[in-house]
Amino acid sequence: MNNIRSRKLEHINIVLNEDVQSKETTLLEYVRLIHNPIPNSDFNEVDLHKDFCGFTLDAPLIITGMTGGHEEALKINRAISKMAGKFNIGFGVGSQRAGIEEQSLAYTFKIAREMAPNAFIIANLGAVQLNKGYTLKEVEAAVDMIKANAIAIHLNPGQEVYQNEGDTDFSNLVAKVEEIIDRLSVPVIIKEVGNGLNKELVSQLTAIGVRCFDTAGLGGTSWIKVEGIRGKGAKGLKDPGKISDYWGNPTAMSIIETRVASPQAYIIGSGGIRDGLDAARAISIGADVSGIAFPVLKALDKGGEEGLESFIDNFIYQLKSLIFLVGGKDVYSLWRKPIIIWGRLREEILSRGMNIDEYLNRRIYTLIWRRKPYGT
Ligand SMILES: Cc1cc2nc3c(=O)[nH]c(=O)nc-3n(C[C@H](O)[C@H](O)[C@H](O)COP(=O)(O)O)c2cc1C
Repeated sequence: MNNIRSRKLEHINIVLNEDVQSKETTLLEYVRLIHNPIPNSDFNEVDLHKDFCGFTLDAPLIITGMTGGHEEALKINRAISKMAGKFNIGFGVGSQRAGIEEQSLAYTFKIAREMAPNAFIIANLGAVQLNKGYTLKEVEAAVDMIKANAIAIHLNPGQEVYQNEGDTDFSNLVAKVEEIIDRLSVPVIIKEVGNGLNKELVSQLTAIGVRCFDTAGLGGTSWIKVEGIRGKGAKGLKDPGKISDYWGNPTAMSIIETRVASPQAYIIGSGGIRDGLDAARAISIGADVSGIAFPVLKALDKGGEEGLESFIDNFIYQLKSLIFLVGGKDVYSLWRKPIIIWGRLREEILSRGMNIDEYLNRRIYTLIWRRKPYGT
């Protein structure tokens, strides 16, 4: 247990003190929203509410899972959940394995619900644990621990392969997810951690009943890099080299592939989202909401709770300004307004056998009118 606790602390320190952002970009720079010089609406009336998995958020933003399991994590989870409550945005805790295997650490996660009694809070466990004895019982325990509204089951094979003490048996996990999904009282969000999802896997997961995804694509925090730095010098540990910067499906592709394979899914567009422009672009190509991790940790580290509050406030303001500037009135406008997809993103979409024009034309239809409310 000490191992998990110190590993989680090392992760925070490395993410904050070393450059562990991937060199590859999200490819969101190849998405252009069209500026409208007469937006034909009042900026102050732009509506940022967004439904997500049966819950209504005040803004399309989710702070994705990061931490828990040690004293430092308690402070982080306290500050973030306070903000989640204040802005009524979503918030995910980090992997709850530490709190499940060592009850005395559960308080570092429970703080999330205590600080934000009414917020959309997401529990978190690694899918690979389903191959290490975890069953519905542990998954339910994670949900109960924080009275979560949903649980993220994370997929992190790249991280595990380059982690000194990594769990690398990912066999048969789709079937294991299927076993829990129907019997759980809250939605399951299948989540990567920075190497992205792809349409083949998302189709498979949709077929077994998964309706929520967190794309966590390439272009932001690289977990392969983090583990490479953490393990440096350890006996037998291999160097990831360029893999840490370039491996995975960039965020823009991860979002588009997920939407193509699962037109009715609820999608968190994440991985390298750094400001309101990234968020607007991610939503415009098919995400429901945007997700961020590293920038939140950085803002909190640099400016404390006040710094974090002003970061989130500014992020939401930027997003609101762009909805206004495309001539929209609400978050759904980002799905309705025309966009341009150009350059490398266009080429990647085509080379994956997807039809861009059809996708862009269909997105409004599939996204807004055909989606059944969550739970039906
Ligand atoms: C310090 C830190 C710890 C993280 N721990 C977890 C975790 O326990 N479970 C998880 O699903 N993702 C975890 N992540 C991954 C994030 O949720 C996110 O998917 C990833 O960092 C990409 O987003 P970003 O580029 O905005 O950081 C962590 C991220 C950070 C920065």
